[in-house]
Amino acid sequence: MNHDVIIALDFPSAQEVYRFLDQFQEEKPFVKIGMELFYAEGPDIVRQIKARGHKIFLDLKLHDIPNTVKSAMRVLSRLDVDMVNLHAAGTIDMMRAALEGLTREDGSRPLLLAVTQLTSTSEERMRKELLISSSMPDTVKHYAHNAFVAGLDGVVCSPLEAALVKEACGPQFATVTPGIRFADSAADDQRRVMTPEKARQGGSDYIVVGRPITKAPDPVAAYRRCVKEFVG
Ligand code: C5P
Repeated sequence: MNHDVIIALDFPSAQEVYRFLDQFQEEKPFVKIGMELFYAEGPDIVRQIKARGHKIFLDLKLHDIPNTVKSAMRVLSRLDVDMVNLHAAGTIDMMRAALEGLTREDGSRPLLLAVTQLTSTSEERMRKELLISSSMPDTVKHYAHNAFVAGLDGVVCSPLEAALVKEACGPQFATVTPGIRFADSAADDQRRVMTPEKARQGGSDYIVVGRPITKAPDPVAAYRRCVKEFVG
């Protein structure tokens, strides 16, 4: 299983992204493009960043009827990204359709991950608003297992849930975890955080790190520290 640090490019415009990435002269970090940047700049931002030599996690969290997701995934696979995701709540049929759409003619495809429950959803809201009466750990485990059954490669989850997911789906099922903070950095709006080192020990395969790197006085040094603590 690969281990890597993925930088969340949470910037509102391409100009700011390039200003940030230009600081990296020696390494080409794996980066995450989310909805804000993708909706603002369109698919061209993906092509431009790919052309600069970065691996890309396109974090668009698809959730629709199977046929629509399949068609959308077919379009995304042409963008040559390395990782994409969807909501496991869309059912096993939707996840299977997504895999079909994502697979290119030569059989290759980006890694496909499922979001189990958003880390912003509390157990109370899940029960009251979504009418899911199981506990959060049981729900995460169940949704992860559905993704595994559908043939997906892994899930995006809290670093606190990574061990649980590995237990349910095996060591080869990838865990990609946001909510990472250095021991001495601010938590910002993240509620449950973990250091890169603890995340690795807890079963995370990839960590997604935003502000501790993007807002650091020296982002390159912060990235290197993160890689050292996580990958070793
Ligand atoms: O700045 P920070 O390190 O908190 O950024 C984390 C990134 O991971 C953001 O892009 C955020 O949207 C994303 N994310 C998250 N929690 C999830 C899913 C995605 O923080 N459950």
